[in-house]
Amino acid sequence: MLYFIKTFGCQMNAHDSEFLEGLLAQHGYGPTEELEEADLIVINTCCVRATAENKIFGFLDSLQRLKRMNPRLLIAVMGCLVSEASAAEKVAKRGHIVDIILGTRSLGRLPFYIEKRKTEQGPFVEIDLEADVPEGRVHKRNDPFKAYVTIMYGCDNYCSYCIVPYVRGREKSRDLEDILKEAKDLAAAGVKEIMFLGQNVNSYGRGLEKADFATLLRAAHEIPGLERIRYMTSHPKDFDENIISAIADSPKVCRHFHLPVQSGSSRILRAMNRKYDREYYLALMEKIKTVFPGASLTTDIIVGYPDETEKDFEDTLDILAAVEFDLAYTFLFSPRQGTPAAAKKQLPQSVKKERLQALMELQNKIGLKKNQALIGKDLLLLGEGKSPNNAAYQTGRSEGNKIVHFPAGQDYTGRLVKAKIISAHTWSLEGRL
Ligand code: SAH
Ligand code: SF4
Ligand code: F3S
Repeated sequence: MLYFIKTFGCQMNAHDSEFLEGLLAQHGYGPTEELEEADLIVINTCCVRATAENKIFGFLDSLQRLKRMNPRLLIAVMGCLVSEASAAEKVAKRGHIVDIILGTRSLGRLPFYIEKRKTEQGPFVEIDLEADVPEGRVHKRNDPFKAYVTIMYGCDNYCSYCIVPYVRGREKSRDLEDILKEAKDLAAAGVKEIMFLGQNVNSYGRGLEKADFATLLRAAHEIPGLERIRYMTSHPKDFDENIISAIADSPKVCRHFHLPVQSGSSRILRAMNRKYDREYYLALMEKIKTVFPGASLTTDIIVGYPDETEKDFEDTLDILAAVEFDLAYTFLFSPRQGTPAAAKKQLPQSVKKERLQALMELQNKIGLKKNQALIGKDLLLLGEGKSPNNAAYQTGRSEGNKIVHFPAGQDYTGRLVKAKIISAHTWSLEGRL
């Protein structure tokens, strides 16, 4: 039996798909890259912006022909998009080709419903966001050197624009011991870099006794064999002194700070329910720059939030220039049904697009300047294998998450190497070993 899996969305979803693949392997399924060959098609979905949702419906529609040709083909749709009842219903009705629909906390029920489908007609829908995700998930990890480790599920922050709390349920931290055991086992198996995953990792441990994010970082730092520790995503409001000193004391924790600012305007930040203002954010970045000189700084920004004025937008441009981020992920505000921001009067699309363009232009200049400042410096890289555009080159990633291409006569995958940077582009660097 063969499955084809397609994953949309963030690292959390990518990791959930690793779990689904592990689960399917335990039940006698093997992977295929050919849709036509699959007995089961799994779609792990995202709904953070309308663009993600549209792509998923497009993909679903493209499967109609396959399902007609092979009525025994099973189609299962999981994850964020279908974790809300009305969206699940829409998916179930779309072309009437979907057999199984599972919410983000019910993924483990896939084998049960595959069995059930043998004797009953679908579609089966199970969403239960109150459910606890059981321990002992087995993952199919494709990279022997890098691995994701979930530290918490859900999100309780309710940023006004964001659908995630409604589709991933309440925040729930895994036990510290369980996380550390998983990380130790991975390191023992040769993994060099782990990334701790959660929607708001800095609040890890809320509801647990004697565990917080700083404790987790310090403990993970002691694991033999691990070389690098990353985490995703931080929330500026919870990025406190404790965390900063834990990182300062733990050189394995990468000097890369991804702190989504979302907007440079205090007024918009308040409307977004982010619980910090511009001054707080700037002070936090100053602190980080002082404690970790040369650290890589990245962020997420939303433009065109309802009621964002020209002045608010200028504050965003201004914070970009003030902090000088290495990279900013920029998004057009996308109203998500059920969130407070979606009910507000929206800005015209043309205004949003113009602002996004201006933001990207400014950030590209800053990013290039920051990369150029690395010329002549030595960076420690974790090898990722062949460079995509030049067979004589290998690629590695720096602690600051920069991609560096370098000429090499052998494979450096999974190895730490030092390279001197000789030239810089907006998205990558070139170095010499
Ligand atoms: N928990 C993480 C990830 C959230 S989704 C965090 O808090 O950063 C990743 C990014 O998508 C967010 O940081 C935000 O910039 C963007 N985003 C979320 N909802 C959005 C929306 N409705 N429209 C546009 N961008 C959005
Ligand atoms: Fe969404 Fe905010 Fe939670 Fe991030 S912290 S997932 S942006 S609600
Ligand atoms: Fe998308 Fe869900 Fe991640 S909505 S961004 S896949 S948490």
